[in-house]
Amino acid sequence: MRGGLVAFPTETVYGLGANALDSKAVAKVFELKGRPSFDPLIVHVSEPEQIASLVETVPDPIQRLIDRFWPGPLSVVLPRKPHIPDLVTSGLPSVAIRCPGHPDARELIRRAGVPIAAPSANRFGCISPTTAQHVFEQFGDRLPMLLDSGPCEVGVESTVIGFDGEAVVLYRPGGISLEDLQKEVGRLKRAGTEDQTPASPGQLSQHYAPATPLVISAENPAKPPGVRLGLISLSPNTENEATDTYQAVEFLSQQGCLQEAASNLFAAMRRLDAANLDQIIARPIPQVGLGLAIMDRLSRASIRT
Ligand code: TXA
Ligand code: MG
Repeated sequence: MRGGLVAFPTETVYGLGANALDSKAVAKVFELKGRPSFDPLIVHVSEPEQIASLVETVPDPIQRLIDRFWPGPLSVVLPRKPHIPDLVTSGLPSVAIRCPGHPDARELIRRAGVPIAAPSANRFGCISPTTAQHVFEQFGDRLPMLLDSGPCEVGVESTVIGFDGEAVVLYRPGGISLEDLQKEVGRLKRAGTEDQTPASPGQLSQHYAPATPLVISAENPAKPPGVRLGLISLSPNTENEATDTYQAVEFLSQQGCLQEAASNLFAAMRRLDAANLDQIIARPIPQVGLGLAIMDRLSRASIRT
């Protein structure tokens, strides 16, 4: 990697990568993203076994989840080994590790010969990129290298989990559903709900935000003349009102499939954001399967700071 940056595809979203063991390289990631240094990065490995060189221990339930879901859209937060630069973990005693499922991501990491620290390849607080074009629109020539492998299949970021000594903790819902995790290890704790300690630093409230104000609502708003509204909804089947209230409409899946909806979510948000609207109305989506991650991203997009 020679200290440089590379934007690359994963099955979730495109990442902005640097050698995870080179703090100068990692600093470039924070700089280009405009990311605050208190928000730690995920370290990506090409083979599941490589986690052993990065963390102190892998508790049993986490190992079971790794065996079941890696390579794939799951990141695990565990006590870190001392050689991982502080910048990667924002000084935390833990580090997030993920073995991505995308073959091109794994090949890149193999060829780099080092683990790759990578956040999503977007400016801090903006919508995550699910195509190489999205990445290019954001960073253009400031990126020395961008690998294009087409659109990301999963479309929402990885599920982030940790372990608190007794239970598996969910920090961020994502590409592996809560139900699938529960099938392996039973009930999970939700960070920030069942205990009062600060959640994952990445639970920063405003995130994934379009520039256009977004409101989650099952109702059509009263619309003064001249106001341009957009709608984002799971499927036409759930949408019984006339859609002529809206200048632009995005149905995430014709059949209401939550997986398909997740893969379309960020591109749909970008299209609405580019449609010169005054407001985007997002319909609530059932919080089952990938619906939990979709609603998490919509909720964050709806928060204005
Ligand atoms: O799917 C993904 O996870 C994508 C692709 C590129 O792999 N990456 C991604 O990275 O979404 P990022 O930086 O946008 O989100 C990383 C999340 C943040 O919520 C961060 O706070 C959390 O992981 N995280 C990282 N290290 C952590 C740690 N030591 N403790 C708790 N949370 C951590
Ligand atoms: Mg991100």
